[in-house]
Amino acid sequence: MGFSFRKGSVMERMGYSDETKFHQIESLGGALDALRTKGSRMKQKIIAGSIVSVLLVFAFLAFSPDTTTSSLRQEQLNKWWKTHDGTDAAIENGIWNKTPEDQEAEVAQGTCDNVPEIIQVAILETVRAHDEVDAALVHSLASQPNVNLTLYQQEPRFGSEKIFHAFGLDYAGPLHPDDFMGTDKHTTIPDFLVLTTCELALRQAPKRLEALLEQGKTRLICIVHHSDHWAEEQRKSDIRPWVDAGMIDFWTLSPHTATFLSNTIAAWDSNDSQPWDNPPSPPIRVFVPIFPVVAPNITISEKAMQGLSFAMQGDYDPHRRDYKHIFERLGNFLAEAERNVSMHLLGQGNRPEVPENVKAHVFFDQGLSYTDFYALLSKVSAVLPGFASPEYLDRKASSSVPASLIAGTPLVADRRLLEAYAYVEEESVWLQEDGENEFDVVGRMLAASAKEREQKSQHAKDNAQRIIDGNVRRVGEWLETGIIQMYCAGSEGEDD
Ligand SMILES: *[C@@H]1O[C@H](CO)[C@@H](O)[C@H](O)[C@H]1NC(C)=O
Ligand SMILES: *[C@@H]1O[C@H](CO)[C@@H](O)[C@H](O)[C@H]1NC(C)=O
Ligand SMILES: *[C@@H]1O[C@H](CO)[C@@H](O)[C@H](O)[C@H]1NC(C)=O
Ligand SMILES: *[C@@H]1O[C@H](CO)[C@@H](O)[C@H](O)[C@H]1NC(C)=O
Repeated sequence: MGFSFRKGSVMERMGYSDETKFHQIESLGGALDALRTKGSRMKQKIIAGSIVSVLLVFAFLAFSPDTTTSSLRQEQLNKWWKTHDGTDAAIENGIWNKTPEDQEAEVAQGTCDNVPEIIQVAILETVRAHDEVDAALVHSLASQPNVNLTLYQQEPRFGSEKIFHAFGLDYAGPLHPDDFMGTDKHTTIPDFLVLTTCELALRQAPKRLEALLEQGKTRLICIVHHSDHWAEEQRKSDIRPWVDAGMIDFWTLSPHTATFLSNTIAAWDSNDSQPWDNPPSPPIRVFVPIFPVVAPNITISEKAMQGLSFAMQGDYDPHRRDYKHIFERLGNFLAEAERNVSMHLLGQGNRPEVPENVKAHVFFDQGLSYTDFYALLSKVSAVLPGFASPEYLDRKASSSVPASLIAGTPLVADRRLLEAYAYVEEESVWLQEDGENEFDVVGRMLAASAKEREQKSQHAKDNAQRIIDGNVRRVGEWLETGIIQMYCAGSEGEDD
C-alpha cells in the first residue's frame, strides 16, 4: 500500500511521512445555540460567505504583488482557511451585526430539526502510526464545549499518552479500535467519525463503515496522508458512496497536500465507467497537526552552559546526506566559533563513522519518547528537516515541520518549503536563500546574536499558538457546517 511503519526514532515514525477574536461565534456551543434559535441565518451566512469569498479572491488577485514567498503563502492560506471559511467571510460582511429584527425575519425561511445538544465524535485510529496527528485531533476536538469525544486507538506509542494527558481535556479512551460500535446495539453512533489514517481505515473497517453510511447519521472526516493515493481506482470506489451521499470531509495536513488532493479529486470524473452526475466537490480542509506541549524548564544559564546546538532529521543514510562534508563543516564551526557547538542526529539506521575532532559534539538520538523528543527539539537552535523525497513538497506532509513549531524551534527552510507549508511564517525559520546549503544557514544561525535566536524561537512559538487557537476555532466551524448539512432542511453546501 505504500505505507511504511518502520521502527526508529519518533521523527521517522511520524511518517505522514492572529486570528481576530470572533465575538459572536467563539465555539461550537455558541454556534449551535445560534443555530437552534436562529434557524436559517446559518444557511444565509454560508451563502453570503461564499459570495464574499469569491469577491475576496478577486480582490486579492487584483492587488497581489509579485509572486513573492509571502504573497504565495498568503494566497494558499486564504484559499484553504479564509475564503472557504463561511464564518470569516460572513463576519467581514457584517452579517453578525444585524439587528434582532433582521434575524427574526430570516428564521421563518429554514428549518433545523433535532439538532443534537451534544455532538458525538469518535476518532478511530486503526493502525499504529500517527500519534501526533491523533494528539492534535484530540486537542482540537476535546476543546469544543459541545463535543463528547471518544478516542479509539491502538496502543499509544512512545509515551504519547503523556502528551494527551497534559492537555487536561475531557474525552473517553483510548479504547481499542475493535470496540468501536461494539456488539451492543445501544452503542452511541457518532455524529462525526474521524478516520485518522483514512487511506487504510476504509479497508480495515468496511462493514462498520457500510453500516454507518446506511444509517445516514454519521459524517466521515477523512484524514489524508497520501494525496496521490486518492487517484487510485480502488480508493475512489471505496470512498465514492460517502462522496455521493455528501457525508464526507477531507482533512489534509498542509495547504500543499490540500491543493494536490483538490486537483486529484477534480480529475475523478475523467476516467470512470460510471460517470458522476455532478462533478464531486467534497469539502477539503487544512488541519495542521500542532498541539501544545509543556516546555521543559531550562534556565538561561543552563542554556549558556550547553552551548549551541542544532538537530538534523532523517535516516542515517550516506546516500541522503554527505556526512564527510557535514563533519567537516562542524569541525570548521568548532574551530571558528571557539565555543561548544553540538549536532543532534535524529533518525535511525547505521551510524556513520564520526571523526575524532568532532566526536564529542555529535549525538545520535534514537527511539526517544515524545516528551524527550520535543524537549530535545526545544533545546536546539535550528532543525534541519531533511525531506526523504520531493514528495514532501507536493503530495505528502512532513511531520518534521509541525514538530519544530510544536517545540518552538526555527527550521532551516528554503522558499519552496515556505510555499508548500504555507502555515509556517517566514520569521519562524532560518531562511535558506538560493545558492546556500543547509550548513551555510547553520553558520549564519551560529553567528547570529543571542537576541536574534531568541526572537526567532519566540516567533516559532507564537506561530504554533496561532495555529492551535485557529484549529480550535476552525474545527468548531467545520463541525457546525457538517451539522447544518445533516440537520437543516435544504441547506446548501458551503462550497457552492
Ligand atoms: C459520550 O460518549 C460515550 C461513548 O463513548 C457514551 O457512552 C456517553 O453516553 C456519551 N455521553 C454523552 C453525554 O453523550
Ligand atoms: C482508467 O481506469 C482503468 C482502471 O479502472 C485503468 O486501467 C486505465 O488506465 C485508466 N485510464 C486512464 C486514462 O487513466
Ligand atoms: C522554572 O524554573 C524556575 C527557576 O528554577 C522556577 O522559578 C519556576 O517555577 C520553574 N517553572 C516551572 C513551570 O517549573
Ligand atoms: C558541549 O555540549 C555538550 C551537549 O550540550 C555537552 O555534553 C558537553 O559536555 C559540552 N562540552 C564542553 C567542553 O563544554
